[in-house]
Amino acid sequence: MSTEPQVEGTLSVTDSRTGKTYEFPISEGTIRATDLRQIKVSDDDFGLMTYDPAFMNTASCRSAITYLDGDVGVLRYRGYAIEQLAAKSTFLEVSWLLIHGELPSATELAGFQAQIAERMTVEAEIGESISAYAKDAHPMGILEAGFGHLSTLYPEAKQIDSAPERMDAVINTIAKMPTIGGLAYRHNQGKDAVAPDPSLGYCENILKMFFGADYEPDPRLVRALDILLILHADHEQNCSTSAVRSVGSSQTDTYSAVAAGIAALYGPLHGGANEAVLVMLREIGSADNVAAFMDKVQKREALLMGFGHRVYKNYDPRATIIKKACDDVFEVTGVNPLLEVAVALEATALQNDFFIQRKLYPNVDFYSGLIYEALGIPAEMFTVMFAIGRAPGWVAQWLEMIQDKEQKISRPRQIYIGSAERDYVEVSAR
Ligand code: SDX
Repeated sequence: MSTEPQVEGTLSVTDSRTGKTYEFPISEGTIRATDLRQIKVSDDDFGLMTYDPAFMNTASCRSAITYLDGDVGVLRYRGYAIEQLAAKSTFLEVSWLLIHGELPSATELAGFQAQIAERMTVEAEIGESISAYAKDAHPMGILEAGFGHLSTLYPEAKQIDSAPERMDAVINTIAKMPTIGGLAYRHNQGKDAVAPDPSLGYCENILKMFFGADYEPDPRLVRALDILLILHADHEQNCSTSAVRSVGSSQTDTYSAVAAGIAALYGPLHGGANEAVLVMLREIGSADNVAAFMDKVQKREALLMGFGHRVYKNYDPRATIIKKACDDVFEVTGVNPLLEVAVALEATALQNDFFIQRKLYPNVDFYSGLIYEALGIPAEMFTVMFAIGRAPGWVAQWLEMIQDKEQKISRPRQIYIGSAERDYVEVSAR
């Protein structure tokens, strides 16, 4: 964990109920919520809490992994700008960086790539259990269950105090996420599973597990997928990462904590947005219909999926990179006709007061689906692609939480607004 917090000043507050004044140290732009418990009206008073539904203004941890500046649109993994990593790095190198905090040496990277390659296979029983799902079972539901299944196959992952066991589960998570995703995809397609080939690269394996062992992906498409996964790898304390940290704080195993992250990512306000964007673009159908759709959005009858962000109040830097990557992909696959609709939506939104006042810009999900679709991946698999990308971030954040001496079981309080005490009434008297 990084350096000890430095006190940069104090906050003085006076409680008008008692006239008492309190001074709280300010460090790293925060005060400790537990300091507020000193503010009481009597000795048996619990003391003040903060009330922060949806955690709009609460830091849940100190983390050294990812830095965001939402006002200027900056994203850095372990200090490296996302633009440089997308241009020069690879997904597995970024995975190492997120987990270990430094870029790997050539030897470290080669060893890591080999470990991932040999661990991409999953036990036959996982494939057998997936074959029992309905053909149209959503692959995110299958992926979520698949990680619960992994927790039964690797009970040693419960030994979270063992560094080797922790790292084993971390590597398995990154290695097996695409394989379970691929099994779900082939099940939905009614096709036989394709086993990973340890002689291939990570992204090449993904495309072959999806499209068949005979599929020969264009290297430009393999690189585009690698860049997409880099861009999704981590994003500080987003909803799914917070779920992994919170569930992991009970000291459950890694796979179960990751299953919680998959469940959170599934939601249309989070990772499920990339699939919802494609559904929206198809519904709009043509640039001519954009104005009518925007009217619906302003009347609160629809959300502009892929727009807006809790942190970014400027362009999501990932959206900028993905939009450029579209050009490279479309050189190979031909332009996705829905791109015209997306560009028209963006242009309209950027000139429309409703969006400008609310600082709503394209986020990572707005253009990513256009690339996945151009790669031949169906919309219901888009969030699985997000989960594959986010796997290293989830496990890096889980590792940091487990080793953070300040962390303990996550257990918020509440403001009780229910009934006062009352006595039970027999049903005959109700
Ligand atoms: C991801 O947190 C992360 O880092 C997430 C992520 C990651 O990498 O992990 O970046 C990935 O989840 C990106 C977000 C994907 N979701 C979507 O694209 C769904 C559409 N977006 C919205 O649902 C919304 O913008 C959120 C959920 C992303 C953010 O919601 P907030 O921060 O709670 O903001 P809000 O809902 O309070 O919106 C503020 C205002 C509201 O209007 P008012 O009531 O103030 O008048 O903006 C409006 C909202 O109604 N608004 C939108 C809108 N997003 C916000 N109106 C229309 N369309 C939208 N997309």
